[in-house]
Amino acid sequence: MATELAKVTINGKEFEVPKGARLIDVCREKGFDIPSFCYYADLALQASCRMCLVRIEKMPKLQTSCTIIVTDGMVVTTQSEEIEKAQRGMNEFLLANHPLDCPVCDRGGECELQEMSFDWGGLEERFTEQKNYYAERYLSPMVANDPQRCILCKRCTRVCDEWMGEEAIEAGGRGAHTVIGTYMGWLDCSQCGNCIEVCPTGTLLDATYRHQTRPWELAQTISTCNFCSDGCQMSLGSRGGEVRRVVARDRYVNGINGEFLCIKGRFGHPFINHEDRIRTPMIRYKKGGKLIPATWDEAIRHVAERLDTVAENHGRNAIGVVGSPRLTNEALYVLRKFATDLVGTENYTTTDLHSLQPFFDNLGAPLATHRDIRYAKTILLIGGDPSELQPLTGKQIRQAVRNGGAQLILVNSTPIRLREQAAIFLHVRPGTEEALVLALAGSTNNALAAQKADIDAAQIDAARDMINATTGDVIVMFTAELSGAAQTVLAQLSKVIGGEGRRVLLHPLPLFNNSVGAHDMRMTDRNVSPYEMLDMAGETIKAMYVAGGFLPGHLAGRENALSKLEFLVVQELFENETTAAADVVLPAASYAEVDGTFTNNSGLVQRVRQSIPPLHQSKADWMIVAQLAKELGLDWGYELSASAVFREIGEQVPAYSGMRYPLLKDESQPVQAKHALNQTVDSAVEDLRRRVEGLAANGEKITATPDVGTELFRLGRLTEKVPQFELLANGNPRPETTAVSPLYQIKGIADLRLPIAD
Ligand code: SF4
Ligand code: SF4
Ligand code: SF4
Ligand code: FES
Repeated sequence: MATELAKVTINGKEFEVPKGARLIDVCREKGFDIPSFCYYADLALQASCRMCLVRIEKMPKLQTSCTIIVTDGMVVTTQSEEIEKAQRGMNEFLLANHPLDCPVCDRGGECELQEMSFDWGGLEERFTEQKNYYAERYLSPMVANDPQRCILCKRCTRVCDEWMGEEAIEAGGRGAHTVIGTYMGWLDCSQCGNCIEVCPTGTLLDATYRHQTRPWELAQTISTCNFCSDGCQMSLGSRGGEVRRVVARDRYVNGINGEFLCIKGRFGHPFINHEDRIRTPMIRYKKGGKLIPATWDEAIRHVAERLDTVAENHGRNAIGVVGSPRLTNEALYVLRKFATDLVGTENYTTTDLHSLQPFFDNLGAPLATHRDIRYAKTILLIGGDPSELQPLTGKQIRQAVRNGGAQLILVNSTPIRLREQAAIFLHVRPGTEEALVLALAGSTNNALAAQKADIDAAQIDAARDMINATTGDVIVMFTAELSGAAQTVLAQLSKVIGGEGRRVLLHPLPLFNNSVGAHDMRMTDRNVSPYEMLDMAGETIKAMYVAGGFLPGHLAGRENALSKLEFLVVQELFENETTAAADVVLPAASYAEVDGTFTNNSGLVQRVRQSIPPLHQSKADWMIVAQLAKELGLDWGYELSASAVFREIGEQVPAYSGMRYPLLKDESQPVQAKHALNQTVDSAVEDLRRRVEGLAANGEKITATPDVGTELFRLGRLTEKVPQFELLANGNPRPETTAVSPLYQIKGIADLRLPIAD
């Protein structure tokens, strides 16, 4: 449908702009600078700073352009003596109680108030009264606060409410003594730090980075987050070979997440330069002996000889190859090629917790991007908890409902926090989510699904009616925990629930940053699970090559599996249970030290860029494998260049056909992999029905809503290296004093170390 246009005149020039557009956006888009503090695109209006003033013909006073929608024939002036005087006056008021000590403020150099004062401020301060004073404090291990710098734009409170659904901070006090604060002076929230990101002044600050460097001393590298599958774009700020902070600040990066990051993306980076990183290759010359440091040449030669021996003695399938879904596409591609073309084994897999192979094998509709989610009309969420496990998706759902009027249908055995946004909540028995997939595939299955899930069949009809009444996008998102049969049917749901004026898009919710890429690089196409791989250890599999260790969940109950192997090689960042059994340990570089790509849960292929040189003697995972291949007699000719590997991916992987790094250079225009759409076999629904019939109908529904941070704060292999996470995992204790960093408590809870999560 063609967009209706309105004619506006701005500073004497005529433009045709979409009807309904906001005046401040239109002026900026047409190149007319308008200052603002409280306006923030896609947040509820605040209209309190009055910096965005313009003159509109036929209107009596200056108008705030952030609150005006353009109408046909509007004549606007953005620059005049009158406007400038008003803006300078507002700026002067903002500074009336604000300290004028930018050199000691942590936001100095990237502060919007500082910049505005240079551009629009008066040169002299006329107020001589004593300014209000408030002591600096910590609001949590992640958030530091200097209340006197606040200009009450309330971006922070709106972001906390609208993006995070948390309302953890609010303005307190009255008149000139109003400050931003929190209940009892301590933040019990998800610690995303988005309030820090959007704060235009030095009021809310990154407590983990504070006073370390000035922003202009940091080299900024745009890259992709290495935690969850949402694939947020971020800027890694490094100095002296160390990543000092991570931001999504729009002056540096403009990706799918805007200025949003969750706690892991923003504060999880200190593992990169952690002192426990493995420094050199190491060889254990005899079982039970010690790992002895070795040169790269020695280690690679040793691995090549031992793998050759195992292949000779037991055959090629006796070698298992395992890659982490955290690795880049380049590393996983080279690893798969190593497994199939060089070793010649059928036993390769990833250390993911769940496989999406059945979903992609039967994909019947395109994948939804995060933008699609934000503007969807109906969202069906089956299982999972995106607020905790894929926080950008969680934020998009909240905004779609709150700011876009979308309807959320929630199918879950737990009343997760997103229940607050749900129009329909199908509270099912644990493990029966797939019964609802069956019911949506055909109403004849309603009674069976309702009985197994212990819900009212009328609720299923209500959900179906809501979907069928939708005009616009319906997004079906689901946890990767769903069985293969359920994934198969769900992948084809668009055939049943799609219709005239209604587009169905799919959004899987795997756990890791490159779970989708691992599938695309065909590391999962043999359908060998990591559990099966461990069960084969010492039996049919005699040697294993592991890039990234097994997860604690894989090894639980199989603790001795790896020690049964004749030979185990592990590429890793840190020593762990997998390296403990290894005969050779090879130091791998982290995502901050390599070039490459990750593919997110929307199928967007996004760049990972080297921010710092590889630490110690570490190397990129793909480079280690290529070096080993060369030792074994096969030179793949990548010439130390990740882009050469990616070029080959563009030639060999149909969904990535024609992709090259230059095509992916603009993070604001991400490129989606072209996953093939398939027809599924007719018996898929029958298979699922048989599975659902076999489901136990006695599980107890969970009635308590999990606390904020239940998953986010669980210590993982990477976040356990960050002391602030340790405090959060131990309940985020409120310290006796908030005047100094809460980290001083760490000594007190040193004995409370928690088990490491997956
Ligand atoms: S850290 Fe996030 S959740 Fe906590 S107050 Fe700030 S915006 Fe809200
Ligand atoms: S703390 Fe920052 S974002 Fe919040 S109201 Fe004050 S200046 Fe605005
Ligand atoms: S939402 Fe996911 S991708 Fe984004 S910052 Fe958090 S962990 Fe990283
Ligand atoms: S930006 Fe318009 S009033 Fe603040």
